[in-house]
Amino acid sequence: MPKIAINGIEREVPVGTLVLDACRDAGVDIPHYCYHPALSPVATCRMCLVEIKGQPKLATSCTTTVGPAPKDNPEGLAMEIFSNTPQVADARAGVMEFLLINHPLDCPICDQAGECKLQDYSYNYGSGDSRMHETKRRYRYEDLGGKIVIDKNRCIHCTRCVRFTQEISGGAELTVAQRGSKLEVTTYSGKSLDQNPYAGNVVDLCPVGALTSRDFRFKKRVWYLKHTPSISRHSALGSPITIDHEGNQLFRFRPRPLEGRKDTFFISDAERAAYERYNAADRETHPRLKAAATSFEAVRDAFLAAGGPVAVIGQGTFGCDAAQRLGELASAEGLRYGSGDKTIPVVLPKLQTSADGVLNRRGFTERGFRFAQLEELLGKVRAGEVKAVVVLHDGEFSSAKEENLLNQILMAAPFSLAFEIFQSDLGRSATAWLPLTSFVEESDFIVNHDGELRRYQKAIEPPKGTRTLPAWVKALQAVPVPA
Ligand code: SF4
Ligand code: FES
Repeated sequence: MPKIAINGIEREVPVGTLVLDACRDAGVDIPHYCYHPALSPVATCRMCLVEIKGQPKLATSCTTTVGPAPKDNPEGLAMEIFSNTPQVADARAGVMEFLLINHPLDCPICDQAGECKLQDYSYNYGSGDSRMHETKRRYRYEDLGGKIVIDKNRCIHCTRCVRFTQEISGGAELTVAQRGSKLEVTTYSGKSLDQNPYAGNVVDLCPVGALTSRDFRFKKRVWYLKHTPSISRHSALGSPITIDHEGNQLFRFRPRPLEGRKDTFFISDAERAAYERYNAADRETHPRLKAAATSFEAVRDAFLAAGGPVAVIGQGTFGCDAAQRLGELASAEGLRYGSGDKTIPVVLPKLQTSADGVLNRRGFTERGFRFAQLEELLGKVRAGEVKAVVVLHDGEFSSAKEENLLNQILMAAPFSLAFEIFQSDLGRSATAWLPLTSFVEESDFIVNHDGELRRYQKAIEPPKGTRTLPAWVKALQAVPVPA
């Protein structure tokens, strides 16, 4: 590997490494706006300029790559980069002055405050002065559909949002119109971001407060939020997300990019909006027996009295610990069945696609659960070969057809016990019902279709009365379960 020097410190990097990446890996911060690892480079903002020995002008580090070592000196430096010279500082301050020419000083009411690259870089690299005496350009807020709001006054024309709709989501709803001081990001006539199921990503991509989410606007100053690493339970691939929460309330689900994984920068709007479901305050939190509220002990006694053989049905949208403990309730290995067939496809053709909505199918299969075999179980229940059925279920992830089949199984079984987060019609038709914590209220892990283990951590406290599936099973096992 060729050797390079960054601000006098030598290191080795592969040929073709972006100078910006090489600097970042070396712990040297290079400010940038238009560069994004998942988007094509355009080098328009000029914020990432560095000095390279032997080159007459400053170079954009987002488009300059490291070449091989000199032929006449293989041990010599392939490149000498400087990010701390007066010329670089002067260039950065000049770029900041240009970018702020038309930018309003509305940070106190801007939703991006606290997460704004313009704020950060202005503080770190700006000159603190402006020679702009003319009136600033003014636009009104505009809706780009129902989900996204644009404030063109704040836009710095980095084109990240435009490139996203052209290169990643594919709808090309956004474009840059006009020229010079009238340059503006807008939608093609007749188009709206409502037609784009991945539109929310433009808010994350926008380095300033020009694009904001209709849902999150003015709800919470970001510095009050706590951040917990998790996964998107509504994604077919269990995409990594960050849960933003405060005061036991969820405010946002955002993508949590993994190093070197371009496919983890983006999640769908449906996955983003899913946080609202887990904020629901009107959840049933009492154990139920024959539709009446009761104690856990009464449910346990009824379960034990029902006798065996016991079959379990685990929905593959729960974690592996839950799968493991649920499997222990089955009287035989062959009596572990999998469910969950409602597809939430991931469709980002250039990055990732999946048509399977059961994100932990692999984790459940590895623990002996057999999917698409519910007809077999129905036959066994009707033949009297299974006396009790325990179902781990979430109505959000079963199709009407599967719900119908599950319902027939519960109706035919002499005894049934349902574990649910939100009580569904299916849960109400079970003999007994126990309230579960949701994935934001517990820690567990899944193994997605690509065989990747993805963990999620507890973000908020569960409602009183709910327990994790392993905790309920442990309590049931405190006395011997039916064989
Ligand atoms: S709206 Fe945001 S992401 Fe789009 S060009 Fe302007 S600053 Fe860049
Ligand atoms: S980040 Fe390099 S020019 Fe914009």
